[in-house]
Amino acid sequence: MNLEDTQTLKNLARAFATETQDGARYQFLKQQAIQQQLNYAANTLKLLATNEMAHAKLWWSLITENDKVSHKNIEIKAGFPYETGEFVDQIGIVADVEDREGSRIYVDFAKTARKEGLADIAEKFDMVASVELQHSAILTQLYKGLKDGALYKSQQAVEWKCTKCGYIGTAKTAWKTCPVCMMPQGFAEGQIPLK
Ligand SMILES: [Fe+2]
Ligand SMILES: [Fe+2]
Repeated sequence: MNLEDTQTLKNLARAFATETQDGARYQFLKQQAIQQQLNYAANTLKLLATNEMAHAKLWWSLITENDKVSHKNIEIKAGFPYETGEFVDQIGIVADVEDREGSRIYVDFAKTARKEGLADIAEKFDMVASVELQHSAILTQLYKGLKDGALYKSQQAVEWKCTKCGYIGTAKTAWKTCPVCMMPQGFAEGQIPLK
């Protein structure tokens, strides 16, 4: 596959820059979650960071292994967010970033790849777009849950699992501190599963 002189080559380089930044952002946010004893949020962010690095590896491989030409430098033009704010607001911001990637950016990249006769790459962009939309949904749920406290409340009694000691208890509201290991509520994982 020769990608030389295609827009898709630039798009792959931009996708790689995007994914590595997303992965880094999630790792930074994970550290903040740990500091705030929000273990459920930390686990979610760790999972997302792992996903982004897998996407990064995919775009990297498509450039470096599939393309016959070695590229000393690929110029890209792209903007990335560097917003400040509270932890919870940062979660809202990255939810929007994911939505843009999944509903617009990668969809456009797929269209371009298809136009350039690169159907295999187009398919990868479409598939990763669907993951980014899933990320956006997970982060939106986390954002709303943290914002209004609903992350630790339920309409009916549900099982809460302590992500530190593994204790499971059934209640409408998660414990303030785990009855077994005394870790704070941020360690309780309820009805918002990591899908
Ligand atoms: Fe990604
Ligand atoms: Fe993502």
